[in-house]
Amino acid sequence: MDQALGFHTAKALLEWQVELGADEAIGDAPVDRYALEEAAPKPARATAPQPAAPVQQSAPQSSPGSAIDPVADATRLAAGASDLAGLRAVMEGFPHCDLRQGAKNFVFSDGHPGARVMVIGEAPGRDEDIQGKPFVGRAGQLLDKMFAAIEMGREREGDQALYITNILPWRPPQNRDPKPDEMAMMLPFVKRHVEIANPDVLVLMGNISCQGILGRRGITRLRGQWTEALGKPVLPMFHPAYLLRSPIMKREAWADLLSLKTRLQESA
Ligand code: URA
Repeated sequence: MDQALGFHTAKALLEWQVELGADEAIGDAPVDRYALEEAAPKPARATAPQPAAPVQQSAPQSSPGSAIDPVADATRLAAGASDLAGLRAVMEGFPHCDLRQGAKNFVFSDGHPGARVMVIGEAPGRDEDIQGKPFVGRAGQLLDKMFAAIEMGREREGDQALYITNILPWRPPQNRDPKPDEMAMMLPFVKRHVEIANPDVLVLMGNISCQGILGRRGITRLRGQWTEALGKPVLPMFHPAYLLRSPIMKREAWADLLSLKTRLQESA
């Protein structure tokens, strides 16, 4: 913090930035993007910056000459699945998502399908890809500890049970963020997954999950705020991978877990 500003001015400036939507630090040092633009070679024709489209609206383009619409196909297949085994089978055989080519395993879910709480993460990482189960790497171990702290878990039964899945069932290469078209074509399956599992509450882990289910990012602001989606109460939380990088945020995660516990007790 600039010492010359003084505490109160610096705090007011910071709050002003948060008001404007700059609520996540993505680098240690500021980048003057105007200066970068000056330095970069000018494109032949100026194009207006495109706003990021919500995932649900960005239907993937069919390849030229192909009449296949992956989102429509996914919607049809998902609607035809009457139980989790059927859903798993149609997802595993879904041919349009290129991520399946690079993945070792298809990762569907873990835990108890009848659980009151369904956790939705982002996508398998390396360990999940190897084991074919969601949240089994370091982030998954933290997730287990977090829920154990409120006496819940994927191995538990009854009201303490947990059901866990991801927006994407295949690992993106180098753990890159899922692309909008990948998410759009897999979302009909996620929605059907929620319908069939029919939990009391959804917990969305991190931005990608919020983008998919709520059509919104900005986890710093969304977290801890109960909302509704897919006909369920929804609690966005910090992703455990983020908590591993920023342990100071565990305090917020703990508050969210307590809020979840209270909500479950109130609606038992
Ligand atoms: N991160 C996720 O979002 N999901 C996993 O399954 C593993 C890591």
